[in-house]
Amino acid sequence: MDKLLIEGGVRLQGEVAMSGAKNAALPILCAALLTRDPVTFTNVPQLNDIATLLKLIGQMGVKVERDGDAVTLDASGLDNPVAPYELVKTMRASILVLGPLVARCGEARVSLPGGCAIGARPVDQHIKGLQAMGAEVSVEHGYVHAVATRLKGARLFTDMVTVTGTENLMMAACLADGDTVIENAAREPEVADLAHCLIAMGADISGVGTDMIRIRGVERLHGATHRVMPDRIETGTYLCAIAATGGDGRLTGTSASYLEAVIDKLTDAGCRIDTEPDAIRLRAPARLKAVNLRTAPYPAFPTDMQAQFMALNAVADGTAVIRETIFENRFMHAVELQRLGADIGIDGNTAVVQGVASLQGATVMATDLRASASLVIAGLVAEGETVIERIYHLDRGYERLEEKLARLGAHARRIH
Ligand code: UD1
Repeated sequence: MDKLLIEGGVRLQGEVAMSGAKNAALPILCAALLTRDPVTFTNVPQLNDIATLLKLIGQMGVKVERDGDAVTLDASGLDNPVAPYELVKTMRASILVLGPLVARCGEARVSLPGGCAIGARPVDQHIKGLQAMGAEVSVEHGYVHAVATRLKGARLFTDMVTVTGTENLMMAACLADGDTVIENAAREPEVADLAHCLIAMGADISGVGTDMIRIRGVERLHGATHRVMPDRIETGTYLCAIAATGGDGRLTGTSASYLEAVIDKLTDAGCRIDTEPDAIRLRAPARLKAVNLRTAPYPAFPTDMQAQFMALNAVADGTAVIRETIFENRFMHAVELQRLGADIGIDGNTAVVQGVASLQGATVMATDLRASASLVIAGLVAEGETVIERIYHLDRGYERLEEKLARLGAHARRIH
């Protein structure tokens, strides 16, 4: 298994381009299941999660063509609406095929994702919504089996804000008979990006970007071309890395407009941030100030940036209180950060981080995608050498990580 070796203590400087958003590309690729026409997507990041999804839909009979950051999917031959456990267990987002498959094929068998490192993460809201649209749904032998001759438009309300739940139901509703309203919808920019892609394919959607999305079902969707939005979490992660090392860096091909909560906290921490329409420059002070934060659905502070801010607070001046409200078990990075010398106390969903003057390199273990990112940031700051094990977690969500870090002057290399 690959490891990442980081020589810490280098102040990051320079310019690096950000990739397309993993969490937008995943649902958007699934949208291609809704039409018989080819659909082309650009700015699709080359990541393990994307490869898993392409494999998953490829085995359904979809033709997949990949050329750099462009992917063309032709689902005219879709004949096997099944998502097997072997693929779903490696990536929960596979559940995103459920809505499009039922809408297009009238039937789907999708393995239940099961647990994951950061919490229970059930899919009951996805199922409840499809049932409200008239699907017969049963759970048999670990699979969700959904059948509907044609889904019917309905008024849907999710018990909590769910990103992939909203996306699944929005895709399903595009081909339903009649109007669907999703209340308490997720407002994440990735949901809006999916909606824009569906609209380009002929869907009738309004309320994009709000918590009430209206979809007027149409008979069929057609082919389109869509460019995936920039990855706001990758962007936020590099901003944190530059900030934690006291650096000065410019990130291109990205936008501050989806990152208000993160930029606000970085500014509170003492960073100077200049934004351009498609770039962000961050200049960090010699020592950051500790910042409190509480995760919540967009536009509040994203749970996917919580771990990176824990690393940043670990070396900041002062004490930070971090509250995680989305997932019940998302502090696994804290014990690994402690191995590097961080002072962190955990009580339920609250972490108290007492900033220390310096961290020391050590061997640490990546536990999930964003937890791994926090270890990279801590390793960049730590004195000496840090070895991060199990970096396959990072390969799920960070494209060409070592190369991008090198562009900013970091000393990081992969060991096979
Ligand atoms: C998406 C993101 C993930 C991010 C998360 C929260 C993708 C591919 N992944 O995950 O990176 O961390 O949003 O911003 O976009 N829940 C239920 N029942 C359901 C659905 C969700 O109880 O049917 C709960 C979850 O357990 C969790 C909360 O709702 O506590 C929010 O989860 P959700 O927004 O659905 O996360 P994902 O869409 O899986």
